[in-house]
Amino acid sequence: MTSNMEKATILVADDEFSVRDIISRRLTEEGHECAVACDGTDALKKLNAREFGLALLDIKMPGRLGTDVLEQIQVKCPDTAAIMITAINDVETAITSLKMGAYDYIVKPVNLNALVISVEMALDKRRLILENREYRLHLEDKVKEQAEKIRDSFLNSIASLAYALEANDRYTSGHSQRVTEMAVAIARELSMPEDEVEKIRLAGLLHDIGKIGVRESVLNKPGRLTDEEYREVMAHPEIGERILSPVVEDVEILRMVRHHHERYDGGGYPDGLSGEELSEETGVVVVVEACSNMSSSAEGKEKLSQGARILAVADAYDAMTSDRPYRWAMSLQDACAEMEKGKGRQFDPVVVGAFLRILHGTAEYKAPAAAVATLSQRS
Ligand SMILES: [Fe+2]
Repeated sequence: MTSNMEKATILVADDEFSVRDIISRRLTEEGHECAVACDGTDALKKLNAREFGLALLDIKMPGRLGTDVLEQIQVKCPDTAAIMITAINDVETAITSLKMGAYDYIVKPVNLNALVISVEMALDKRRLILENREYRLHLEDKVKEQAEKIRDSFLNSIASLAYALEANDRYTSGHSQRVTEMAVAIARELSMPEDEVEKIRLAGLLHDIGKIGVRESVLNKPGRLTDEEYREVMAHPEIGERILSPVVEDVEILRMVRHHHERYDGGGYPDGLSGEELSEETGVVVVVEACSNMSSSAEGKEKLSQGARILAVADAYDAMTSDRPYRWAMSLQDACAEMEKGKGRQFDPVVVGAFLRILHGTAEYKAPAAAVATLSQRS
């Protein structure tokens, strides 16, 4: 008799030759591919050597019992279904083996038609379990993928808006992109983990988005800003954080945007946070005393994150080397000297160290020339 059941590789383990022979013959007739094992040890060896869809395990075998083999299957090849074969006086053990994960048990003398039905049901159940797992796995991936797409699309829209604003302004055109490339190069030179680098990349692209909330006449004012105008400009990191918070869940990215104008010594804005020096040699964190009384945050626990300190360096360098309505761009050499001067005060010395190595072409991390050119490449 043949059926439409799924064809599988089946291991028949029984110490009685006649039993394993008759079962394997019948299952072969049904279209399955059968292997036989004469005891528990032999069964384990064969299960280790290849993958089986189903194992028929006699419970009483010399050496390793069928239940021992079942236990090993659960651990080593849980996708292999198992059906126990048992003598009439050992049904209790067979029931226990169901609790251990066996799909079914059949009682000797084996009724071959009943066996075929049991095998069919076990293979069917196994197929459903595998398909369900596969479906769940893909469903989770799909949901994750969709969520990422939606998030990326939001972020891209915001970044496009920022670029559009920059592009309208000859002084800041390409600023966010250049800051991002330099910040990423510094983070890589400091051997930061890839997920942190990715956060810095996003924060770099979006760091000045808050300038949307600052009047154009103020942003492009050629002369000195009034106190009120200066306060308006100083609000852009906080505005940026507010714009991004509905779409950016990652607090570290939001804080980097908020803190890209903070100073290492605590004299920056909006929170007057100070930095922590991560010693390059020892990796020990040394807290730098805040010298600012701009806000209570400076006395609190929050410290300027490494990402914000990196953005501050990349941002300041790009600002120094770009024309502004009120001054011409500095030369690269002068800008490097300024960064050097600001070490330990405006800027984190470790970050400036990495930045200067990149500019001087001595960094371990080789940034793509198209992204960050060294001084010699630029001159
Ligand atoms: Fe800014």
